[in-house]
Amino acid sequence: MVNKDKVIIFDTTLRDGEQSAGAGLTVEEKNVIALQLEKLGVDIIEAGFAASSPGDFQAIQKISREVKNATVASLARVVPSDIESAAKALEFANDPRIHTFVSSSTIHMEHQMRKDPEEILEMAVTAVKKAKQYVDDVEFSPMDATRTDIDFLITLLEATIDAGASTVNIPDTVGYGIPNEFGKLINRISKEVSNLGNSIISVHCHNDLGLAVSNSLSAVENGARQIEGCINGLGERAGNASIEELVMGLETRKDYFGVSTSIKTSEIGPTSRLVSNLFGFPLQANKAIVGQNAFRHSSGIHQDAFLKDRSTFEIMEPEDVGWRGEALVLGKLSGRAGLRSRLQDLGYDLNDEELLEVFPAFKILADQKKEITDLDLESLMAEHHRSSFEGNFEIDSVEVQCGNMVQPKATVSLKIPEGRVKKVESFGTGPVDAVCKAIDKIIEIPVNLTEFSVNAVTQGIDSLGEVTIRISDDLGQIFSGRGSDADIVVSSAKAYVNAINRMIMIREESSNSTI
Ligand code: KIV
Ligand code: ZN
Repeated sequence: MVNKDKVIIFDTTLRDGEQSAGAGLTVEEKNVIALQLEKLGVDIIEAGFAASSPGDFQAIQKISREVKNATVASLARVVPSDIESAAKALEFANDPRIHTFVSSSTIHMEHQMRKDPEEILEMAVTAVKKAKQYVDDVEFSPMDATRTDIDFLITLLEATIDAGASTVNIPDTVGYGIPNEFGKLINRISKEVSNLGNSIISVHCHNDLGLAVSNSLSAVENGARQIEGCINGLGERAGNASIEELVMGLETRKDYFGVSTSIKTSEIGPTSRLVSNLFGFPLQANKAIVGQNAFRHSSGIHQDAFLKDRSTFEIMEPEDVGWRGEALVLGKLSGRAGLRSRLQDLGYDLNDEELLEVFPAFKILADQKKEITDLDLESLMAEHHRSSFEGNFEIDSVEVQCGNMVQPKATVSLKIPEGRVKKVESFGTGPVDAVCKAIDKIIEIPVNLTEFSVNAVTQGIDSLGEVTIRISDDLGQIFSGRGSDADIVVSSAKAYVNAINRMIMIREESSNSTI
């Protein structure tokens, strides 16, 4: 039975989100995100596209074994070998779903697929039937649905439902839809697909015109009961509908939509920051729900009214979405028990060994900053996660000489594989350039630094600086790295080494073919 009051949340951060230009995660990082998505309470985690790469296959396999309270899905084209790899990767999932798709618009059928509608229909039906031999739960997507002839779209949906699809997804693949018009399309589908029965109508909206969330919500008003999206609105080009905005739209305006989701909203903030960290995409300050300014009031009139009654200028409570403020929580004199307890409040359950590893970094930071906030602690944990990942290279020490009267020079010492330490010096156009050149001399893998940005974790001059770096290899593939430290030159060195380690790891995973 379709529960008309519930909207199913389908998260595709690890599939469509990973298609964001410049993204690239290791299998372990995808697993960490999947476990957090499970905690957040999403109904379905699209863990990847099994046939697309060995790394995706392994990630789906790992996530299928570890995630127990969400459906795990793999994407598959309507080709037999894709369906087979998806089924194999999902073998150990408690609740597996195969999501198969094919283009259905004239423009895609003619120019991309070079097939006529009858062939597309036949391929779609065959694929759904094949997927059904492996799993009960099959989703079908006619790609570029919003530019597809409506009669053909309805025929395709009816045929794939007959073949066994229990969810039919309407992708606005190129972000072409307009809310009112998209809502009408969903309404027509809900009325005109003759065999819809208990099948769920899903929507998957891209954000090329900035309308992905509006289109999805309009679809919910018109009968869609599954919405697909990504944390922080990641995804191809301008991204997908942002899960946090979709969910808080439905929650905050329950009076209007009259539906609920299974999302634990207080996990939204931690999930957003984890995804931002591991993908290496900093959040814009004014991003709805999760941006640093989302709950800051600066105008005097607003502040005055807000202090009298929060609801004058706030439609959501920041705590409801797991927002972390800048209130001081720990200091120089805090001990291990205090740190453990605060980290527990933030959702990090550290065992004794992990606490021993994190504590020295906390002490150094507390000495530098004196006052530590939750945001500092989250950054510290992200840095711990990065450095405990089995990288090939690790920063041992960084020293720089710079200023307007000397040529910038860096001395960098790196721990290299086999536990040895190598130290070199290099000059550069600035301190960061000199540091990266020194690292290049040790690592000897040709890469280009293509992007560099620094963000302050908190306000104030003593803030931790979080550096995001992107590098490209000789094939033009892009990898990101992050590092945080009170000294931004050290953060830069950490971020550069993190990007190189991730490049090596992702390349290795891609060459360890298991399919
Ligand atoms: O945007 C799209 O059409 C997709 C499909 C594979 C669902 O991502
Ligand atoms: Zn998409």
